[in-house]
Amino acid sequence: MKEAVRSNFDASVPAYEAYERRTSRFGTLARLLAAEMTARSTGPFETLLDAGAGTGISTAVLAERGSRTVALDVSRGMLRANDAADRVQGDFDRLPFADGAFDGVAFTASLFLVPDPSVAVREAKRVCRSGGVVGAVAPLGWVDGEGVDVFERLGRESRSPAGAGEVEAALRAEFTVETGTWQFAATAGDVGRFHAIPAMAARLYPKEPPEERVRRAIDLLDALDGTVEERWRWVVGVADGGG
Ligand SMILES: C[S@@+](CC[C@H](N)C(=O)[O-])C[C@H]1O[C@@H](n2cnc3c(N)ncnc32)[C@H](O)[C@@H]1O
Repeated sequence: MKEAVRSNFDASVPAYEAYERRTSRFGTLARLLAAEMTARSTGPFETLLDAGAGTGISTAVLAERGSRTVALDVSRGMLRANDAADRVQGDFDRLPFADGAFDGVAFTASLFLVPDPSVAVREAKRVCRSGGVVGAVAPLGWVDGEGVDVFERLGRESRSPAGAGEVEAALRAEFTVETGTWQFAATAGDVGRFHAIPAMAARLYPKEPPEERVRRAIDLLDALDGTVEERWRWVVGVADGGG
């Protein structure tokens, strides 16, 4: 599973960057999550870990707030496009950092990409100082004007290795958490472009090779038109001991 996620993202850089240029979605999520984390942090919010940093969209947002931001990602391809000074190729299930090394750990659109988010959450707690914060944002999907999931209408499921509920439960098990939902207006075209990213097309057709997977996702989403509501769940946990 992890090896597939890594190679899917290695193959996703151009489509990922094209989607972000069009929607600014990941930048917006990173900004909103950083604001929620800052509001709940006790003491400095300076040394930050961007866990699942990708091409650097969330890294740049965190760098505006902290004096040192480390970008960690399992995909070398994504990380190559990230121009942060501190880049580490690695798995957030086994963080190569000392206990209490960070004031905050942010998983912007990344923690739902492992089947068991609780492993990464325990690692994030370990590397977070007491009073520091761990935040995550995970997708809840897209609904049409009648509140029906667009993939239900299309007779398919667009699912990630872990759902937003599992991400939230993993954080609740280790921290005192606050959570909420963000909604965005999106076009049918945006949903198509999201699933034209090979790593995201795997939500629909995980067993197909990347090109075929994207082709089938584009075909499927051709039937969609108009605007939809895109929903994301955010969760912030405050570390009250340990670190
Ligand atoms: C949707 S992208 C988000 C990237 C970035 N945070 C942003 O806001 O643009 C998810 C990233 O998480 C990374 N990722 C997935 N599983 C990971 C793991 N186990 N350890 C580290 N990074 C992981 C992927 O390689 C990918 O770059």
